[in-house]
Amino acid sequence: MNPLSHVAIIMDGNGRWGVKKRKSRNAGHKAGLHTVEKIIEACLKKDIKFLTLYAFSTENWKRPKKEINYLFKLLENFLKDEIKSLIKRKIKLKIIGKKSFSSDLNKLILKAESITKDFKKLQVNLALNYGSKNEIVDTVKKIKKKKLKINIKNISENLYTQNIPDPDILIRTGDTRRLSNFLLWQLAYTEIFFIKKLWPDFNQSDFFKIIKKYKNLKRNFGSI
Ligand code: FPP
Repeated sequence: MNPLSHVAIIMDGNGRWGVKKRKSRNAGHKAGLHTVEKIIEACLKKDIKFLTLYAFSTENWKRPKKEINYLFKLLENFLKDEIKSLIKRKIKLKIIGKKSFSSDLNKLILKAESITKDFKKLQVNLALNYGSKNEIVDTVKKIKKKKLKINIKNISENLYTQNIPDPDILIRTGDTRRLSNFLLWQLAYTEIFFIKKLWPDFNQSDFFKIIKKYKNLKRNFGSI
């Protein structure tokens, strides 16, 4: 059985879900947040140590302002409302991405990260204003500044995901098969699961089925 420590998720399909329900795209994002909560619970049940969620990409700034504002409001409320619950459940929160947000949001993020920094039960990484190509460029710049050799070890150790093992599983919901500039370096040997369901419809039972499939896979890492 394969060990499992890190699950990464591209939570796709919120907008389509909202429209399908004759509501708004933003209603889909709100419903998507409930799924986030259910999947955090599922990770705790399965003793998974790292969960990385793609919440907002560097390309998502191209969306209408109304949708961007709504997504950031959801995030702000999540940080305000959930902090006590994160502490209670010993969950560490980390933001990966370029932290160039409004000063209020920055304060909330820094506070949540610092209060939860020593928790070990589960680490939730929120990819926010995240783009993998930017991450790799930033990493190479960092390495050059530190006058280190450009090699695999130094790149891995200087990514935004430093000290986080590469994902064992990537899930993308929403019936789309692409990586959308997400963790391109880290996903080199990750097992990928593309799921038809839209993110708000994805549930714990779907998640557990994927884990069961993953556990029984033969992982070669290039060997035979
Ligand atoms: C992709 O679906 C989803 C996003 C860009 C946002 C994901 C955000 C959440 C699930 C809620 C916020 C989460 C936290 C933790 C605060 P899409 O809108 O591209 O869907 P579509 O393909 O149907 O348009």
